Amino acid sequence: MNKRREWIMSTTPLFPIFYRTAELYMPGKMVFGLNSLERLPKEVRFLGGNSRVLILTDKPVRSTGAPEKALELLRKEGFEATVYDDLEPEPRIELVENAASFAKSFDPEVVVGIGGGSVMDSTKLVAVSFTNPGNLKDYVGPNLLKRRGKPTICIPTTAGTGSEVTQYAVFTIDGKKKTCASPYIIPDVALIDPMLTLSLPPPVTAGCGLDALSHAIESLISTEATPITDELAYLATRLIFNYLKRAYYKPNDVEARYYMSMAATIAGIPLCNARMVVGHSISQTIGPMYKISHGISCAITLPYIMKFYAPVVSEKLAQIAVVIGEDVSQVSLKDAALISAVSVRRLLEEVGVPPSLKSYGVAKEMLPKLAEDSITNFPRPNSPIELNKENVLKILEWMYEGEI
Ligand SMILES: [Fe+2]
Repeated sequence: MNKRREWIMSTTPLFPIFYRTAELYMPGKMVFGLNSLERLPKEVRFLGGNSRVLILTDKPVRSTGAPEKALELLRKEGFEATVYDDLEPEPRIELVENAASFAKSFDPEVVVGIGGGSVMDSTKLVAVSFTNPGNLKDYVGPNLLKRRGKPTICIPTTAGTGSEVTQYAVFTIDGKKKTCASPYIIPDVALIDPMLTLSLPPPVTAGCGLDALSHAIESLISTEATPITDELAYLATRLIFNYLKRAYYKPNDVEARYYMSMAATIAGIPLCNARMVVGHSISQTIGPMYKISHGISCAITLPYIMKFYAPVVSEKLAQIAVVIGEDVSQVSLKDAALISAVSVRRLLEEVGVPPSLKSYGVAKEMLPKLAEDSITNFPRPNSPIELNKENVLKILEWMYEGEI
């Protein structure tokens, strides 16, 4: 198998990166470890905070006790800290504006977000509201922010979105999902404490873990991938295949939670730097329309987009089969790529995610509109196959039937 891996890795990449200068954005610091929440006061000081700290969260996360624990840790060290918990999933921009007004009245030195992707996304935008005047919604789009904001610490309570390390934040504006993309919102410190994920119920564990898997695999496919993002994506993929089922079936398995948290954060780096392809376009189209969570809507695209891209990135996708331990020594590269796609579909089923679109109440007649909306609203210039209504419709038809 090692021999096979060597052979695959030595093939010429289809999209060599040496014709351009690659950039790699990451947080200033990543702190990772069991019970590392206790390091929060130290990290606040590392960012220059001496007195006032604002913790942003939402009510479900607050009920787990994590924000209160952070508050206690900070107060014990002499900080004046407070919690604002009026955030929500898929946050409406108006609620983030309210959080920003509260933040300005409190005037913290450091802003801390404790929660899932939506809380961290909101925190990132609240932090830049201090230095970018006007309405926050005017900054939601690609590279619209003018400068960095208040020092920010993001603490994930799920293992999936990778928001603690990315330059993205997604909001709901006039009922539609819109993305703010800017290096100025990458948190200064990502503090990852896998203990905070122990209480996640199995369906959330599955959805978040598969979102992270989508980040890893879609980044491999992107024309903006580099050898650095690729290796991180393979590492995250291997960890997810090794540990997602354990975390799903035994939520208190600390080792599984530890490596799933690690996988999600690691996959966030290729997400941030290589970007997503058509899977996330379809997910962001069908998710809000059929009330399917982000992670699940990404997951159900994944086996089929792998089949779609297999002809142009077969080496990359075949390598997935190698890193997850499938024996592909006797098959062609294209077949090995398809074995990877089948393995992903099997993983979905093993964690309770039906892998066909018809299981989610989507009518077949809607597929052409979904294809059109996906490419119009979420174009992907970094897709190695140029997207059009016909080829995206083909992916949706495979998804609908669950057919590889
Ligand atoms: Fe995602």
